[in-house]
Amino acid sequence: MAPTVPLVKDLAQSPDLKSIPSQFTFINDSKGSDSDSLPIVDFSMLVSDNADQRSKSLLDLGKACEDWGFFVLINHGIPETLMKAIIDASLEFFDLPEDEKRRYEAKSASDPIKSGSGTANAANHKILLWRDFMKSYVHPSFYCPEKPVHLRDIVSEYSEKSRCVLRKLLQGISENLELEPGSMDEALNLDSCFQLYAANFYPPCPQPDLAIGIPPHTDHGLLTFLIHNGVAGLQIQHNGQWFHTNSPKNSILVNTADHLEIFSNGRYKSVKHRAVVNTEATRISVVLANGPAPDVIVSPSPELVKRDGRALYGPMKYIEYVETMLSNRYDGKGNLECLKIQDNHE
Ligand code: OGA
Ligand code: NI
Repeated sequence: MAPTVPLVKDLAQSPDLKSIPSQFTFINDSKGSDSDSLPIVDFSMLVSDNADQRSKSLLDLGKACEDWGFFVLINHGIPETLMKAIIDASLEFFDLPEDEKRRYEAKSASDPIKSGSGTANAANHKILLWRDFMKSYVHPSFYCPEKPVHLRDIVSEYSEKSRCVLRKLLQGISENLELEPGSMDEALNLDSCFQLYAANFYPPCPQPDLAIGIPPHTDHGLLTFLIHNGVAGLQIQHNGQWFHTNSPKNSILVNTADHLEIFSNGRYKSVKHRAVVNTEATRISVVLANGPAPDVIVSPSPELVKRDGRALYGPMKYIEYVETMLSNRYDGKGNLECLKIQDNHE
């Protein structure tokens, strides 16, 4: 069995911790820039009967996906109380006794519930991450840790409400790509869309510039939704530079992911992002990764391939993509790179 990785919550609580153990050292420029122009998409306008409002928000959505691969979603209609409840219940998971948290340490990539801390490969050696996590598959089949007991209903409700928002966003994206209405739904079987719930716990860190919560990566799936407890830490890459993502209360941070890049035949790029840590406050993020149905073999949209003259990505079954990514998540070359098809005529 692989040696167990220490949980950072316990480490961070050790009295007099002034520096991080050397295995956490990640050479890093965790500084990011502020941007006053992060894209905002107003969901209430996207679903509005007013044609002018709807086309304005479709334009915002299209520009956000194209320029940033990221946007702040406001007025999405998911109740504030539910968002708070899922943050609080997720936090409670990390307060459980260690053996309860370690109960879901993954034995195999296909375990539907996984928990622990984690490693990444940096400059060819393994480093530990300043983050504990818990992940579970929540759709089309629903799994959730047994404790805390109320987590189950809250996660189930949040994922259901998020799916409605997701489907409307993807409808808007299909329109922006000038696809037949329903062609994304059909090709990716979105009634059975895969959703993975992940809670990330980042305790205060005495040397945040030397550690990393999650190193730079892209996500599997179509769109990732992220909410947090008000402590910032997500940075996204834009034009080669890192930007902080500060978000208004109750908004959802949304990023484009690998399978939107594949399906759009490269029109919308999967955005690189990372989680940085700080000295002051515990941060928790609740992430919902939303993808095609698990058994769909995802390829670029045939309509877009026809327009472009060739497919830029090879096919791969979605759940296989997810599980190879979950087993070697931050190591080496990403899956997406492996699926890119070179053009020998260039
Ligand atoms: C992730 C992720 C960032 C964050 O879980 O894939 O990118 O801010 N999280 O927690
Ligand atoms: Ni991510």
